[in-house]
Amino acid sequence: MHLVLLGPPGAGKGTQAKRLAEKLDLPHISTGDILRNNVKLGTELGKQAKGIMEKGLLVPDDLMAKMLDERFSNPDIKKGFILDGYPRTLPQADCLDRILKDKGLNLDLVIYLDSSDEVIIKRLTGRLVCSKCGANYHVTNMPPKVQGVCDSCQGSLYQRSDDNETTVRKRLEVYKQQVSSLIEHYKNSGKLHTLNADLGAQIVLEQIIELSAKV
Ligand code: AP5
Repeated sequence: MHLVLLGPPGAGKGTQAKRLAEKLDLPHISTGDILRNNVKLGTELGKQAKGIMEKGLLVPDDLMAKMLDERFSNPDIKKGFILDGYPRTLPQADCLDRILKDKGLNLDLVIYLDSSDEVIIKRLTGRLVCSKCGANYHVTNMPPKVQGVCDSCQGSLYQRSDDNETTVRKRLEVYKQQVSSLIEHYKNSGKLHTLNADLGAQIVLEQIIELSAKV
């Protein structure tokens, strides 16, 4: 399975990719997670990306291309993959096509998780993330049992620096500038399916599983 999850910030790309990766035993490739890890480790890429991410802007395509090339040179890719957060621009979609072509691979499915601005802002401004295992919580919709502590691993919970309302709105604006050209790119391939990601996470997961079973 070679699957791409597209969608606005907060649509549930990470949530669905994680669940699907566990179910299908596939690598989950999140460009946001790779970037955040680089920021945490203080790498050159992390230093370049930090300020850009905090402003809700996109990391330049050439840096992303290098990062993706590196990730796709990992042999685990032979099992398949679930790509979350890439591509976000047309040049990135072309870059992915080139990487896959070089490896003799094809995309099987592109799922566009469509969500409304109102839902996204509520989800992201209330999101808490576990610093140890990456589990997601929400201050009101899904609070942890003990405030600030992860239910499953007892790690401390934090709010992502780009999850404040101003930056979330900027991320949405940036996303909307790019999305139509991406949709057009994949519509022509016949592999694109749109799902209503305002629905519950379990319902969306079941719909994705149904689509992937048809591939
Ligand atoms: P990234 O980390 O990819 O952020 P994003 O795209 O803004 O997406 P999120 O992680 O915020 O949301 P998501 O869609 O994964 O939703 P999630 O499952 O977490 O990127 C961060 C930054 O890195 C970018 O802004 C950019 O600067 C840079 N970057 C990354 N990739 C790049 C690229 N390719 N090119 C250039 N720059 C790049 O869910 C959100 C919340 O909602 C969670 O709390 C979850 O529990 C909850 N939730 C999810 N689904 C549901 C549901 N169905 N019902 C109720 N709650 C739900």
